[in-house]
Amino acid sequence: MHTTHRTSPPPAAGIIWIKLAVLYLLVGVGMGLVMGASQDFTLRPVHVHVNLLGWTTLALAGIIYTVFPQAGHSTLARIHFWTLNLALPVMMGALAYLLLTGDKGAIPYLGAAEIMAAASIVAFAANLFLNLRAQ
Ligand code: HEM
Repeated sequence: MHTTHRTSPPPAAGIIWIKLAVLYLLVGVGMGLVMGASQDFTLRPVHVHVNLLGWTTLALAGIIYTVFPQAGHSTLARIHFWTLNLALPVMMGALAYLLLTGDKGAIPYLGAAEIMAAASIVAFAANLFLNLRAQ
């Protein structure tokens, strides 16, 4: 009888993305509750980007990388992961600091983090176009 030897598949590429995403959701929802309770909406742009870039964008990437492991395990996925996950906390911190203090010293940090976050999205788009195929 012919047997095929199959190596066990690598761990789902999306798990780390989804776990980080839900941490952003906890922070984003917490901020929403605080903003609503205090009626102070100064940090609304931070709330919005923590939820939409942190929760939604990371979770969608995690699901896509789980469904399409070639894309999830590619070099572009690694570039996407590190650029986004290093840029986003800096971007959110610098934006929060700028909104709370008005200190324009935060702007270079914010700008650099925004460019890095945008570059991560370019890597994501390139990854999907190059490496997304039917399994
Ligand atoms: C329990 C969870 C949440 C609470 C309590 C909450 C609360 C809030 C509050 C108080 C505002 C400001 C509203 C204003 O300025 O009048 C806001 C704005 C916003 N939130 Fe949330 N939020 C929650 C979850 C989310 C999630 C999960 C997302 C996206 C995935 C999100 C996206 C937004 C957006 C886009 C705005 C801006 C809306 C605008 O300025 O017109 N929020 N939220």
